[in-house]
Amino acid sequence: MSKEAIIDEMIIAYAAELETIQNYIAASVNLDGVRCDVIKKALGADIPTELLHAQTLAARIKTVGGKVPGSLALPRGQASLQPLADTTDVVSVIKGVIDAEKGAIAQYNKIIKMCDGVDYVTQDMAITLLSDEENHLSEFTGYLKEYEK
Ligand SMILES: [Fe+2]
Ligand SMILES: [Fe+2]
Repeated sequence: MSKEAIIDEMIIAYAAELETIQNYIAASVNLDGVRCDVIKKALGADIPTELLHAQTLAARIKTVGGKVPGSLALPRGQASLQPLADTTDVVSVIKGVIDAEKGAIAQYNKIIKMCDGVDYVTQDMAITLLSDEENHLSEFTGYLKEYEK
């Protein structure tokens, strides 16, 4: 596995973290109603964690010889987390968050496998980020159970 291929995957993860931050900010502000309060607070609390993930990835990209791209070079893809016409539709927001966390989990697992035998420091970083995303997924899967009752 080449160093360049690992950097490319770290840039994809970096873009997803930044997109997650944007969409969590939007959802934590846009949602209306009593039922949304816990979710708004939970999303608000996750934003600093996702920002730290983006900063950790950026630092690692630089350390291994890559360049951190600007906003115009970054892909976007979180279709299920876009603001909805119904701002009280908390279940759809929770499902969008679950999609985003599953996407992050898949990307960190990919990086972990690519790094095996090649770059153990990046692998260790990806394992730490993976652990955070698994906690987020578990938290929002729990919310979904309750809100879908
Ligand atoms: Fe993250
Ligand atoms: Fe997350």
